[in-house]
Amino acid sequence: MAVGHANPQGAVTAIDDYLERHETKSLLRVITCGSVDDGKSTLLGRLLYDTKLLFDDQLAALEDDSLRHGTQNGELDFALLVDGLAAEQEQGITIDVAYRFFSTDRRKFIVADCPGHEQYTRNMATGASTAEVAIVLVDARKGLLTQTRRHTYICGLLGIRHVVLAVNKMDLVGYAQNIFRRIESDYRVVAAQMGVAQVTAVPLSALRGENVSRRSTMMGWYNGPSLLEQLETVQVDRAAGKPGFRMPVQWVCRPNQNFRGYAGQVVAGSIAPGDEVVALPSGVRSRVARIVTADGDLPRAAAGDAVAIQLEDERDISRGDVIASTSQPPQVADQFAAHLLWMDAAALLPGRPYWMKIGARLVTAQVTEIKHRVDVNTQEKRPATRLELNEVGYCNLGLDHAIAFEPYAESRELGGFILIDRQTNATVAAGTLSFALRRADNIHWQHTDVDRAARARIKGQTPACLWFTGLSGSGKSAIANVVERRLHAMGYHTYMLDGDNVRHGLNRDLGFTAEDRVENIRRVAEVARLMVDAGLIVMVSFISPFRSERGMARALFGEGEFHEVFVDTPLEVCAQRDPKGLYAKARAGQIHNFTGIDSPYERPEQPELHLETPGAAVEELAQRVIDTLLGG
Ligand code: ADX
Repeated sequence: MAVGHANPQGAVTAIDDYLERHETKSLLRVITCGSVDDGKSTLLGRLLYDTKLLFDDQLAALEDDSLRHGTQNGELDFALLVDGLAAEQEQGITIDVAYRFFSTDRRKFIVADCPGHEQYTRNMATGASTAEVAIVLVDARKGLLTQTRRHTYICGLLGIRHVVLAVNKMDLVGYAQNIFRRIESDYRVVAAQMGVAQVTAVPLSALRGENVSRRSTMMGWYNGPSLLEQLETVQVDRAAGKPGFRMPVQWVCRPNQNFRGYAGQVVAGSIAPGDEVVALPSGVRSRVARIVTADGDLPRAAAGDAVAIQLEDERDISRGDVIASTSQPPQVADQFAAHLLWMDAAALLPGRPYWMKIGARLVTAQVTEIKHRVDVNTQEKRPATRLELNEVGYCNLGLDHAIAFEPYAESRELGGFILIDRQTNATVAAGTLSFALRRADNIHWQHTDVDRAARARIKGQTPACLWFTGLSGSGKSAIANVVERRLHAMGYHTYMLDGDNVRHGLNRDLGFTAEDRVENIRRVAEVARLMVDAGLIVMVSFISPFRSERGMARALFGEGEFHEVFVDTPLEVCAQRDPKGLYAKARAGQIHNFTGIDSPYERPEQPELHLETPGAAVEELAQRVIDTLLGG
């Protein structure tokens, strides 16, 4: 240790001892759930005060504040210490996740302080996803509340197995044992339903400091630990999953020609040079040659270590792959059942592609089905076609690539994920994988002797998809119609998929909600792809109002096969033409979710062809489409 210049020698030893103890102390991640009314800020302030983390000047400021603003008659108001945010003091609520650190002789603690209000489920999930223990706070006078159930549900969902039930304000109920016992037994039932295995209930008074860090003398009937004692001693089983080695590859480091290392953090198990490993999802095998760190090679790496692994032979392993022991490797799959906690103001729409980040891997994922939504307050299952902000759903997911994974109950690192909106890059959901859907396992690609090239050749053409997008009444179908007529006259094999027509058949079950439009486009894009595969030049004339789904359609086609044609007619012009009388009805409130009126149209950003229709003849616009297609 680099403190050799200190003098006298005795001090060095003392400092060494101190640092040594702190370095080897284990770290416990805790989340506090409850609201300001339950006394959460007071409890946290008390914990910080009692563990002497406060500096003298902070204490002086606190005494000063307590005299001026405190609600405790001039005594120290610990809530003021924690409620540091101006907004909190103004509104009396806590609004963001704050991480607080303190330590005792036995352990170090990181406490995620999460707000209790329903609209902040997102913050709570953020805190809970890394916590090992939750303190669930209950006001002894009120007992269990809806929010107690909600918090416990989210803790259970995000894998917290230990809850300390802090029954606060015991001083206000005369330190009565029966009140505490009833709350405790009610809560044990709730916790068991929600998968929280271990509950310790502590009766306390945060305000008076009873059973917070020192045991109370006011409750002779209780002989359990104080809250702090419980936090110091609770055993958290960090390796709940299988014992096998797992490391997601964060990056491939290649400082020179002779060295290629796969860097990442070991999330489970351990490994030593000579051990056989497998890289997933590819399944290639090799042996560990060296385990390299900034401080030299290691004889063994274990969970928590950040290392670079060099293998005995050069393998094609890339960022996001998982290196695992060959004896009990994680599973590989591309379809899953999963829970999703939706955290974005724009709803989750099944069928829409999102980025999915799991471990170090980024793939594209679609919710293929919402099986049900869970009412977070009552845990009832309800049918749903979308998920709104703060809602939890149980869903089927389909990925564009297979991934190595483990159920969340076994591994937070390989079973927990987030979804990211591809347009805004915002994190829109937190999710937990339950299991892989095996239904895709027995479906393989069937080889056909006549392939797409052969089908195209016999027609003497290059297949393509012309995708017309624009408002209702913008002229998409009129232009597409002329395009098809001319192509047909030139001897090309074509087909036209028109929104109104397809909605009479294949898509007759779909309406105009956002989720139905997503499905509408998903189906027609798949059909268009089959037609291109069949060798046709296919015209799709759908409003297709969302950028995301036009992007999804584009991604189904090869380079140069997809031509997005933006039929750009101002809303006012469309509404004036109003060929089907729909704008008039929409404006009169007789039709809902009408594009341009009360449902959005997202303009294409980089269409292959941008047709501004006012003042232009349909024939001339159609010719420009044909020129684009045929490269004229
Ligand atoms: S899309 O948005 O899902 O792509 P699509 O092109 O299939 O729409 O269908 C649009 C046609 O349905 C319009 O041309 C119009 O004739 C009719 N329609 C009926 N209700 C609506 C509505 N609420 N919004 C838009 N179009 C509607």
